[in-house]
Amino acid sequence: MLTSFYPGALWPDTNGTHINAHGGGLLYHEGTYYWFGEHKIEGRAGNKALVGVHCYASRDLYNWEDQGIALHVSDDPQSDITRGCVIERPKVIHNATTGTFVMWFHLELKGQGYRAARSGIAVSDRVTGPYTFLRSFRPNAGVWPVNATPAQKVAIDPASIEREFNGSFTEDIDQVNLLGRDFAGGQMARDMTLFVDDDGRAYHLHASEENSTLHISQLTEDYLAPVGKYIRVFPKRYMEAPAICKRKGRYYFIGSDCTGWAPNAARSAVADSIWGPWTELGNPCVGEGRDTTFGGQSTFILPVVGKRDAYIAMFDLWRPENAIDGRYMWLPMRFTDVGFELHYLPEWDLGIFD
Ligand code: GAL
Repeated sequence: MLTSFYPGALWPDTNGTHINAHGGGLLYHEGTYYWFGEHKIEGRAGNKALVGVHCYASRDLYNWEDQGIALHVSDDPQSDITRGCVIERPKVIHNATTGTFVMWFHLELKGQGYRAARSGIAVSDRVTGPYTFLRSFRPNAGVWPVNATPAQKVAIDPASIEREFNGSFTEDIDQVNLLGRDFAGGQMARDMTLFVDDDGRAYHLHASEENSTLHISQLTEDYLAPVGKYIRVFPKRYMEAPAICKRKGRYYFIGSDCTGWAPNAARSAVADSIWGPWTELGNPCVGEGRDTTFGGQSTFILPVVGKRDAYIAMFDLWRPENAIDGRYMWLPMRFTDVGFELHYLPEWDLGIFD
């Protein structure tokens, strides 16, 4: 029985096998936490989706029981989620009205690198699955964000733009109206998370516009589609790995810079409304290793049930050369008057919140 977190160490499940749920997120449902994440295999090939989305269950957050594969990749070569595609950062939310568990993930179609930049949706009546894949798409086709400027609201034929982007910072991003380029076909959706607010409304936060700008998009009441209301945030900041929580009426955000599997300095931001304005607060990490987020990249913020003011920031420590060996780093968030801090701890337990 584990009684502590050991950030960065191997994390055995109740069978003694290192947990395989990368880029993950947690869902609390009826007294149990469920952890969903990317199932990776050995070697560099393990970064592709060859198995699916893995699920674990725990009541104490330290000891995790393997619930198997919640969403399987498909053997059908025609399927969007055929074996060998890329499925990243899966998140599951529960719709209290329909009773359905809804999974969203970043999908890249097989053999297309990271060009597809789509959102995938799968559903299940049971929290642990099996989840049924519904469809994949680019969000918000034919809709302008609520905070788009008149200059941005110009649809452009994508075929008229010859240059290619590689997803990382480029000085001349202003020369192409990416929002307009993707207006008809839908906006790009890569690194992502989901967030359900107190009023039951759900939101999809995703890196868009060639990763340069984050979009926050409200979902329909059944959580199965964007409702058609969204904003652009952190324009040209290349924010990846979005994670969000709400505390005392304010929204707190953790993200990263855009450097692939290599760690970089984390970012943080705060807002009084999910629709902004969002104020960047800089790197929340304190102490040695802060410039590389102690080796990690954010994936989720977990409010701990039954503890006051207790939020855990979850990170991945990627191991791209041997994907299955990727580690997890969960750290307690220390809130300040303006924002929050993250301090690396080699070992800690939930008593820290008492
Ligand atoms: C990272 C991203 C990961 C994955 C990786 C691929 O920047 O956060 O989810 O997409 O790039 O290189």
